[in-house]
Amino acid sequence: MARVFVTHELPFPALERLRAAHDVDVWPKPAPPPPEELRLRAAHADALLTMLTDRVDDELLAAAPAVRAVANLAVGTDNVDLEAARRRGVQVGNTPDVLTAATADLAMALLLASARGLTAGEARVRSGDWGPWQPAEDLGADLDGATLGIVGLGRIGQAVSDRASAFGLRVVHRSRSSGLPLGDVLERSDFVSLHAPLTPDTRHIIDADALRRMRPTAHLVNTARGGLVDQRALAQALQAGEIAGAALDVTDPEPLPPDDPLLRAPNLIVVPHIGSATRRTRARMADLAVDNLLAALAGRPMPHAAT
Ligand code: DGY
Repeated sequence: MARVFVTHELPFPALERLRAAHDVDVWPKPAPPPPEELRLRAAHADALLTMLTDRVDDELLAAAPAVRAVANLAVGTDNVDLEAARRRGVQVGNTPDVLTAATADLAMALLLASARGLTAGEARVRSGDWGPWQPAEDLGADLDGATLGIVGLGRIGQAVSDRASAFGLRVVHRSRSSGLPLGDVLERSDFVSLHAPLTPDTRHIIDADALRRMRPTAHLVNTARGGLVDQRALAQALQAGEIAGAALDVTDPEPLPPDDPLLRAPNLIVVPHIGSATRRTRARMADLAVDNLLAALAGRPMPHAAT
């Protein structure tokens, strides 16, 4: 029996499978373990089941010499130092595919909400500010015939592209190996949706220059990682009307403090990192994470190894 530290309670059947096979220690609080606690618990573990809120870096792995497997409950692995893990012979796994549809659905929901001003309209209704119907009030952006620029055409980007086609959007894209230069995508698009992983190369890929290349009528959607966007630049672009709107599922940091200047920007929608938050998707993510650990602890390669 190996010792596994799980950094958050997982109310899914997968955790029972793990408990049946191994000695499982679960962090009991809703907030992530502070780095010092993570280090202490990891030091007594042979494997970790981590959330995207846990920093798994070289220092942590050095303090946990028995750890030989890390299963991250996310498709993104920017919280894990993959290179350090490789050097130390630690297998790292993630949870691809099972969250593709849910995340793509949320990207479309945000795109539609931003295009049609849903949250601002709803707020007006609730505050008693719903005046008589007027022919030229509350006018949003059309999707049919418009262009969507997808930055990062992996599984989720492709699923957004498929959904967007059904809404009559034309799709252009930029990815590591294909598509148009980023500047061309930004200039041509009425909507831009981000689906790239966060790496040193993609941090702040949407900065002040990139925002200036977007159309003043364009909307930005981010369901990938907050670090892809320079939020100060985004706040300024929204204030100055350089773009028409932005809808974010992810920010930097998370949670975004309620007094963050970004939240004072107009035409901004922010939701709390819920791209994969459907019942079936999260249960499947837990299944994949546990499959990864069971394989690695049995001396086999993880079925969903992070590359
Ligand atoms: C991920 O998996 O990387 C998402 O951001 C959370 O589901």
